[in-house]
Amino acid sequence: MSDERVLVFDFGAQYGQLIARRVRELNVFCQVVRHDLPAERVAELKPRGLIFSGGPMSVYEPGAPKCDPAIFDLGVPVLGICYGMQLACQVLGGDVKPGKSREFGRKSCRVHEAEGLFAGLPSEITVWMSHGDQVEAVSGDFLSLAATDTCPIAAVRHFSRPVYGLQFHPEVSHTPDGVTILRDFLYGVCGCQGLWRMSAFIDQTIHQLRDRIGTSRVICGLSGGVDSSVTAALLVKAIGPQVACIFVDNGLLRANEVEAVRRTFRDHFKADLHVVDARERFLSALAGIADPQAKRKTIGHVFIDVFKDEARHIANAKFLAQGTLYPDVIESGGSVDGPAATIKTHHNVGGLPAELGFELIEPLRDLFKDEVRKLGLELGLPEDLVWRHPFPGPGLAVRCLGPVTAERLTTLRQADATFLSELKQSGWYRKTAQAFAVLLPIQSVGVMGDGRTYENVIALRAVQTDDFMTADWSRLPEDLLARVATRIINEVKGVNRVVYDISSKPPSTIEWE
Ligand code: XMP
Repeated sequence: MSDERVLVFDFGAQYGQLIARRVRELNVFCQVVRHDLPAERVAELKPRGLIFSGGPMSVYEPGAPKCDPAIFDLGVPVLGICYGMQLACQVLGGDVKPGKSREFGRKSCRVHEAEGLFAGLPSEITVWMSHGDQVEAVSGDFLSLAATDTCPIAAVRHFSRPVYGLQFHPEVSHTPDGVTILRDFLYGVCGCQGLWRMSAFIDQTIHQLRDRIGTSRVICGLSGGVDSSVTAALLVKAIGPQVACIFVDNGLLRANEVEAVRRTFRDHFKADLHVVDARERFLSALAGIADPQAKRKTIGHVFIDVFKDEARHIANAKFLAQGTLYPDVIESGGSVDGPAATIKTHHNVGGLPAELGFELIEPLRDLFKDEVRKLGLELGLPEDLVWRHPFPGPGLAVRCLGPVTAERLTTLRQADATFLSELKQSGWYRKTAQAFAVLLPIQSVGVMGDGRTYENVIALRAVQTDDFMTADWSRLPEDLLARVATRIINEVKGVNRVVYDISSKPPSTIEWE
């Protein structure tokens, strides 16, 4: 499977991970590596092809990221995208002149050579441009393969080396034939066969897990979410009852979550499932706390204590499994050949393994989210779970604004369940990235029959987003919102008003606390 590896060199591109995902979607295993990975290391990894990503700088700027030029002598095919193309042309002695104009958006592109990268494509295609510099002229070693009105060299190939360049972005959906171009590069130029399959991944990972774990036991914390569930399912498949799954019922879960976890893991997978009823412990620790960060801290501490208490009962446990995904590994700078740490700080970077003295097992650390979902389905997890929206570790506590009490949690849980069930029935659950109800810390006046009421307000939140760093509020249909509001006000005791949150992130956040 990994005999067929492609490396994506990261020059700081906005779309770097997207390139890797596209390559994987074409069934070729692909890793994101740092831009200056030495040629000897590249040779050791035996890649079938290299892709240079775009990047925000100009190749002429001081400090612009460069690759080890010896890479081109390895004979491995290279595809440079945007900045990557300019760099490849520059290194190989092409006469590269920076363009003056910035170009951004859809362009019509004439293809001069309908073979190689453009095999099977028409002579006119639509491409997505996003660049400042462009290659204005190349030396006799390069041949221009395509052009737009403003970009005479929209694609190139080297005459004698397997080096190609694209000024536009084949990885974004605005370049409709981008997938074909990438496929032509991977299959036509690099000679890949498409060996990266989820079934092959499962077999290989199970093998590795068995080898590493031996006869020890593994503890796997379940949160009810996709990543931890898939991790657990994979481990159960690999080592059966040697994995002990711990699910902490902190009393801050959504309706029916404990039952769903029991049904899936105990009844279906026959896993060794430990459901810890810690509702009282969390609620009493949270009593009187209204500040969001104080809630998070309290919940974090109690969680570690509860988890440790339970883990102590599991004899011969040597490993702790976590559902870390590839984007987290890349962004935290945690991969051996990968780029340095970038932007994101994660909510749940726990010190659990270190504190408990366990070795860490992260079987999903090579996978993207969509691959984890595919894997979950292949392992037999229910669709409902595989497509579940993310749910924060502190759970309903940060959606129950103000003090957290059992009664307020019940109100919130019922309203939330009503909202989600209507979203699912209307098909909108899958069209939103995250949706939930929030219980506001205020009361509002209402009228019921002849009397006035003074009761709770529920806010509904639904967002669209790819990465949760930015988000837009979902334009839910009016009749759906009307139905949800009516049902909540009629069915949930103590609620007399429902509002819909129409704020985007930024400047708002997705959660209210
Ligand atoms: P915000 O509210 O920052 O949320 O826009 C972005 C994403 O992170 C989730 N979130 C959390 N997840 N612990 C978590 O595990 C937390 O304390 C936490 N706070 C926010 C949020 O649900 C959204 O998906």
